[in-house]
Amino acid sequence: MRSRCSSSRKLDVAHGFGFTVKNGLFAAVLGSLLLLGRADHYQCAASDLVYSPTLTPFIDALPIPPVIDIWNGSQIVLGAYKITQVLHSNLSATTLYAYGVSEATATYPGPTLEAKRNTTSYVRFDNCITDNETFLVTDRTLAWANPPNGGVPIVTHLHGGQFQSDSDGHPDGWYTNGGDHGSTFTSENHTYPNYQPAALLFYHDHTVGITRITVASGLTGLYIIRSPSEEPANLPTGSNEIPLIILDKTFWANGSIAFPDTGDSPDNHPNWCPGYYGDTILVNGKVWPYLEVFPEMYRFRILNGANARFYTLTLSNDTLEFIQIGTDGGFLPDPLYLSEITLAPAYRADVLIDFTNMTVGSVVYMNNSALAPFPDNTAILNPSTVNSVREFRIIARNGSGPRYSVPSNMTAATNTTYDLTTDGYRNFTFDETLDADGNRIKILLNNATWTDTVTETPTLGTLEIWDLINFLPDAHPIHIHLINFLVVYQQSFNATAYTANECSAVP
Ligand SMILES: *[C@@H]1O[C@H](CO)[C@@H](O)[C@H](O)[C@H]1NC(C)=O
Ligand SMILES: *[C@@H]1O[C@H](CO)[C@@H](O)[C@H](O)[C@H]1NC(C)=O
Ligand SMILES: *[C@@H]1O[C@H](CO)[C@@H](O)[C@H](O)[C@H]1NC(C)=O
Ligand SMILES: *[C@@H]1O[C@H](CO)[C@@H](O)[C@H](O)[C@H]1NC(C)=O
Ligand SMILES: *[C@@H]1O[C@H](CO)[C@@H](O)[C@H](O)[C@H]1NC(C)=O
Ligand SMILES: *[C@@H]1O[C@H](CO)[C@@H](O)[C@H](O)[C@H]1NC(C)=O
Ligand SMILES: *[C@@H]1O[C@H](CO)[C@@H](O)[C@H](O)[C@H]1NC(C)=O
Ligand SMILES: *[C@@H]1O[C@H](CO)[C@@H](O)[C@H](O)[C@H]1NC(C)=O
Ligand SMILES: *[C@@H]1O[C@H](CO)[C@@H](O)[C@H](O)[C@H]1NC(C)=O
Ligand SMILES: *[C@@H]1O[C@H](CO)[C@@H](O)[C@H](O)[C@H]1NC(C)=O
Ligand SMILES: *[C@@H]1O[C@H](CO)[C@@H](O)[C@H](O)[C@H]1NC(C)=O
Ligand SMILES: *[C@@H]1O[C@H](CO)[C@@H](O)[C@H](O)[C@H]1NC(C)=O
Repeated sequence: MRSRCSSSRKLDVAHGFGFTVKNGLFAAVLGSLLLLGRADHYQCAASDLVYSPTLTPFIDALPIPPVIDIWNGSQIVLGAYKITQVLHSNLSATTLYAYGVSEATATYPGPTLEAKRNTTSYVRFDNCITDNETFLVTDRTLAWANPPNGGVPIVTHLHGGQFQSDSDGHPDGWYTNGGDHGSTFTSENHTYPNYQPAALLFYHDHTVGITRITVASGLTGLYIIRSPSEEPANLPTGSNEIPLIILDKTFWANGSIAFPDTGDSPDNHPNWCPGYYGDTILVNGKVWPYLEVFPEMYRFRILNGANARFYTLTLSNDTLEFIQIGTDGGFLPDPLYLSEITLAPAYRADVLIDFTNMTVGSVVYMNNSALAPFPDNTAILNPSTVNSVREFRIIARNGSGPRYSVPSNMTAATNTTYDLTTDGYRNFTFDETLDADGNRIKILLNNATWTDTVTETPTLGTLEIWDLINFLPDAHPIHIHLINFLVVYQQSFNATAYTANECSAVP
């Protein structure tokens, strides 16, 4: 797929994005790539079309996951456990896998880990799941961990983190409760130096071939890097700083997660149905929760924790806006005033909402207007239930509350004004192989598969511009492990012309 257009055509930097490798540090993710749209597979079999029981919105309060400080130099131990948790008052308890310091305290989402910049954190992730197999169906025809003695393998990735690769949660570094482990396993102990700028990250299971299942089963939690001396003054803090992990699921009437397990290409992969879209929206592990807020400013640390759904968040009151102060990579140089925010899966946003002028007793809704698969619209994936995210109820405070303000400029911001004189360019194509029915078998990167040898070896401390060229039918958010990058530009392109090596493919 790699273009053989004349290399005399100077690659305009606006077609790619740059990143720098400086002692493993740096940069900001400001977006992702623009891709081709084609409605594709999701509901793979009629037997997989399930609707959740009717659940009344806004009857449960928004839970806040427990917080664990991980900056005093001691190792903390988190286990992955099998638990049940009530995700809506009118729904029976749901079986989940969840992180916690003990089985009794494990929660979905897991505890929020709070680290300090430049202070090393040590986390051990124990596998305390004694099931012989995942409770959602594993497709055993995919390249997956396949532990010889059974069990549920786990390995935890800190998404957005910059650290040594032996703490990265490599997909083949999985391990079971019974002691089986994958080829790149070194230890359950992870070391996070937290050199990078203050930002919201998240941790989640990353086991080869079953990540979509273990994450949908609950193995996810937030990780916040703070840098008190560098952060803007007067930001909302304490109970005015609230994490929001937004995602979607479908439930059986008995409360169990309904997850499709009939493959779209049963001869190749009997149980793999790419892309999971639910019909209810959960925030911090509750279906359509409400949050009582004072007429004050709040800071929301938002993660799109969904398997596949994009969210375009809006507020029902026109006088309110999102004031975005940070992204995946840290603070923005200046706040952005937005009426909506679109987040692809795994994107994070650091957002202020100022309720100061709202009347006590009034209600504001956070809604979703993104269509699935984004940006297309396949009606079956977009029941009206997914338009609603949560409710804010404005309540009175006794006496005057804290005063917060929007930072006018953020000196802690990542420097996004790069000198784009680079040390090199690389192109990467994202492609797939299809079976005779047009269903996906594998995804390829530069026509190579997961097990092929390493081809790209950038030098530490260099700055490169990479073109990521997506031939896949779906919009695919992309991150690169162990490094953050800055998006320079996004654009559509003519895939037919590009493949035919026509230099006009990229306008
Ligand atoms: C991709 O790899 C396959 C199998 O090795 C090969 O047949 C094909 O020509 C390659 N395609 C491109 C565009 O390099
Ligand atoms: C360090 O922090 C952990 C987690 O917050 C806590 O459990 C532990 O007691 C602390 N250790 C010391 C020595 O303060
Ligand atoms: C749903 O839950 C609420 C609050 O727990 C309760 O008042 C209501 O009766 C329940 N509705 C149904 C249909 O079970
Ligand atoms: C953290 O370390 C980086 C790299 O050494 C340095 O640039 C930055 O100023 C440090 N920040 C803090 C808050 O210590
Ligand atoms: C557990 O899984 C292994 C490997 O798939 C299998 O050989 C074994 O029979 C299973 N044990 C039980 C109790 O189901
Ligand atoms: C991992 O941490 C534990 C303490 O929780 C320690 O006993 C063990 O030796 C460590 N393992 C490795 C490989 O460092
Ligand atoms: C819940 O219901 C589904 C669909 O009927 C069924 O497959 C599943 O086994 C049930 N789960 C439990 C824990 O009863
Ligand atoms: C609240 O209303 C006052 C008076 O109209 C106005 O000056 C201020 O900008 C408003 N604040 C917000 C956050 O809307
Ligand atoms: C930005 O912040 C710096 C440091 O706090 C300050 O010196 C500067 O005046 C500010 N600039 C603006 C435009 O507010
Ligand atoms: C950001 O980087 C550019 C290019 O390297 C440099 O010219 C500029 O001074 C830097 N800005 C800050 C605030 O460090
Ligand atoms: C990347 O592709 C462009 C055409 O889009 C081409 O001009 C350039 O030479 C390619 N660069 C590399 C490093 O392959
Ligand atoms: C894409 O390129 C092909 C081959 O050059 C051309 O036939 C087609 O019209 C182009 N499509 C668009 C939408 O420009």
